[in-house]
Amino acid sequence: MKATIFFPLVLVALSVSGSLQAANLFAGQDRAANVCAQCHGIHKPAAGAPFPSLAGRDAAYLKEALKQYRSKKRVSEIMNAIAGSLRDNDIDDLVAYYSKLKP
Ligand code: HEC
Repeated sequence: MKATIFFPLVLVALSVSGSLQAANLFAGQDRAANVCAQCHGIHKPAAGAPFPSLAGRDAAYLKEALKQYRSKKRVSEIMNAIAGSLRDNDIDDLVAYYSKLKP
C-alpha cells in the first residue's frame, strides 16, 4: 500500500528536479517580478506601448532578442543596459518563465 503512494511521488519529484536543471523557473520568475515587470508586466505590460508584452512569446525569439540586446546588436538604450548584466543562465531562466506564461 505504501509503495503505491511512494512511487508516483518519486516520479513527480524526479520530473520536477529534471526541469529545474534545464532552466530555473523560480529564478526566472523572481527576476521577472523584480526587474522586467516594471515595464513589461507579467501577463501584459501595465502601460502598453512602447513596452512589448513578453508572456507566452516564442522562447527562441525571446532568447535571441535578449542576446542581441546584450551584445548591442539590437539597439535600445534601456534594454542594452538591462541585458548587459544578464548571464546565459539568467536569460534561459527568464525565457523559460515568460514563454510558458499565458498572455
Ligand atoms: C525600464 C523599462 C524596461 C525594463 C525594466 C525591461 N525592459 Fe525589456 N524592453 C523595454 C523597451 C522600451 C523595449 C522595446 C525596445 C526596442 O524597441 O527594441 C523592450 C524590449 C524587450 C524585448 C524585445 C521584445 C520584442 O518584441 O522584440 C525583450 C525580449 C525584453 N524587453 C525583455 C526584457 C526582460 C527579460 C527584462 C527583465 C530582465 C526587461 N525586458 C526589462 C523596456 C524595459
